[in-house]
Amino acid sequence: MTPEETVTDLTDPRTFDEQDLAGYWRRLRAEEPVHWHPPAPGRPGFWVVSRHADILPVYRDNETFTSERGNVLTTLLSGGDSAAGHMLPVTDGHRHRELRKIILRAFAPRTLDRVAATVRANTRALVAAAVELGTCDFATDIADRIPMGTICDLLGVPTADRPFLLDLTHHALSSDTKGADEREAVGARNEILLYFGELLEQRRAAPGEDVISMLAHSEIDGRPLPEDDIVLNCYSLIIGGDETSRLSMIEAAAALARHGEQWQRLRDGRVDPATAVEEVLRWASPTLHFGRTCTRPARIAGTPIAEGDIVTLWHCSANRDETVFADPHAFRLDRTPNKHLAFGHGPHFCLGAYLARVEIGALLTALRDFADDLEVTGEARRIHSAFLTGYSSLPVRFQRKAATGTRL
Ligand code: HEM
Repeated sequence: MTPEETVTDLTDPRTFDEQDLAGYWRRLRAEEPVHWHPPAPGRPGFWVVSRHADILPVYRDNETFTSERGNVLTTLLSGGDSAAGHMLPVTDGHRHRELRKIILRAFAPRTLDRVAATVRANTRALVAAAVELGTCDFATDIADRIPMGTICDLLGVPTADRPFLLDLTHHALSSDTKGADEREAVGARNEILLYFGELLEQRRAAPGEDVISMLAHSEIDGRPLPEDDIVLNCYSLIIGGDETSRLSMIEAAAALARHGEQWQRLRDGRVDPATAVEEVLRWASPTLHFGRTCTRPARIAGTPIAEGDIVTLWHCSANRDETVFADPHAFRLDRTPNKHLAFGHGPHFCLGAYLARVEIGALLTALRDFADDLEVTGEARRIHSAFLTGYSSLPVRFQRKAATGTRL
């Protein structure tokens, strides 16, 4: 059977809703690691790279494989990203390096110490309260509240505006409803941009200690960052920083509930939470793919790639690559080494990786400290997307730990 006969369309969210693709990816890695996904009416064909070892050099070489014509299938296939050259993930070359240096100042581990302490305290309080109650929707009652709160703290978004922004981000990238309208996502994105435009005005008038105020006073090559660039990068941080971390946390709870032996190892202190975080990231692989456009004739694993070709890199496959991960379909919290690609690789390596690790680590530690057991009690609702994967709802029941004097 050829891959086409088993999977029709990697651009269609329904492909990821309805099928277990493990066999498809295994076959591609073995037989056709650089696979041509044929064109369809209204959209071009594209390359599908599935092996870990073939993805790394593409990520590393952003001169040959640029992000400036989009970095996810939706924009790559529709002819580009209007934020190219302005927003960090879709900018390359000198401007990317300079912009990244500016934004990294706000994300360096040292700068984030205070933020990390708040994340840990908030996560412990949320988990302790949910465990005390006995049941909750892990997605809406816990995971929804952690990454968004953190990134809003960094950006200086007032508390009252946060539920509104959270609702918009839910719609901007993925969707809870099958067959939902792309126009709804575009509308949500525009509203987020408008919101940050207004917040920027306020911060210019009254600067604070936040990322927006910092961007408002930054320069590249002696010129202040244009308003559009600031707004687009705030958008990028809120989109990049919220949903991916949230989906990883929900997947952590789902995987722990389904792999009782691993949960017991975490609960009993037999695995290091920092090592466990890496396995959660590999297991969840919340971003299914990223992509690039080839700028000059090149080869990937010997396959010729023409200038202008779209190349997609599939984390969900690379993170299950049997040549890199022993027993890749086993969830093993003590897996080392764990060279997963959840955060990408190379010049665009995730800028929020440290923060995401703090968030997931805080969650695992809080679960370990407060819960004796957890189980999924109802239907776990999947999001609907060809870019992100995970759950938007996960009903769980906790068993409380016998009083051990664990403190908030
Ligand atoms: C880039 C994944 C959390 C902000 C990336 C990339 C990946 C990724 C794969 C590379 C994209 C590319 O090469 O085209 C994740 C995952 C996360 C996470 C799986 C959570 C588990 C965060 C957080 C933030 C963030 C918490 C910020 C608060 C960014 C930014 C970039 C990026 C700004 C662009 C970096 C650049 O282009 O230089 N992320 N991310 N991410 N991420 Fe994350």
